[in-house]
Amino acid sequence: MAAIAIIGGTGVYDPELLEQPTEETVRTAYGDVKITRGFYRDREVIFLPRHGAAHTVPPHLVNYRANIMALKQAGARSILATAAVGSLNPEMRPGQFVFVDQFLDFTKGRKQTFFEGGPEGVVHIDVTEPYCPRLRKILVQAARGLGLPAHDGGIYVCTEGPRFETPAEIKMFRELGGDLVGMTGVPEVVLAREAEICYAAVAMVTNFAAGIAAYRLSHQEVVEMMKVQGENIRRLLLEAVTL
Ligand code: HPA
Repeated sequence: MAAIAIIGGTGVYDPELLEQPTEETVRTAYGDVKITRGFYRDREVIFLPRHGAAHTVPPHLVNYRANIMALKQAGARSILATAAVGSLNPEMRPGQFVFVDQFLDFTKGRKQTFFEGGPEGVVHIDVTEPYCPRLRKILVQAARGLGLPAHDGGIYVCTEGPRFETPAEIKMFRELGGDLVGMTGVPEVVLAREAEICYAAVAMVTNFAAGIAAYRLSHQEVVEMMKVQGENIRRLLLEAVTL
């Protein structure tokens, strides 16, 4: 049972993309998680909305450990995780996909590991390649096939949120080499690696980041862009799961 999982970020809540969907609750040591299991062209696909079905969980309160453990227990061997992001890079424009290959972690106080000593032991995983290169290749191929604008690689800066960044923070992140900014990519990617699940981030640029955009940011703007891009995101994910 080598299922592929989709973690739906902001704007991607709908397991309707699956055929014969069935809901189930997975009980984990970190809490219960509702998932939807279904099929797309004979591939088994598991869907999990990161912020809950009605977007009620903010980025800093997502139970990342429960989510990743639930997918592991449900049999997921790979994960495609969508994320709405702001861009710091003039070449990565709103409406474009970026298949992230590195991250900078500016989160605070999130549970980052399954290994907290005791019976689990102490484990230091290698994150030279935090995102799965095999899945990234598949995503690039899927985007090319569909004619969707996409970047192969990008450095994702994860902030704690839930507020957006100050222009000074964005300037600093840019000087550090960041391309994109979001609030949910870490520790999700790290936990997936600990769980030995191949994980790829499908970032959709919804806006230029604070201070680069000539106006104030709003969550509504992010949601609107995800709505406009909803069909492209759906097509990309479905194409990728069959490759
Ligand atoms: N900052 C942080 N998270 C985001 C942004 C942003 O500009 N856009 C979408 N998610």
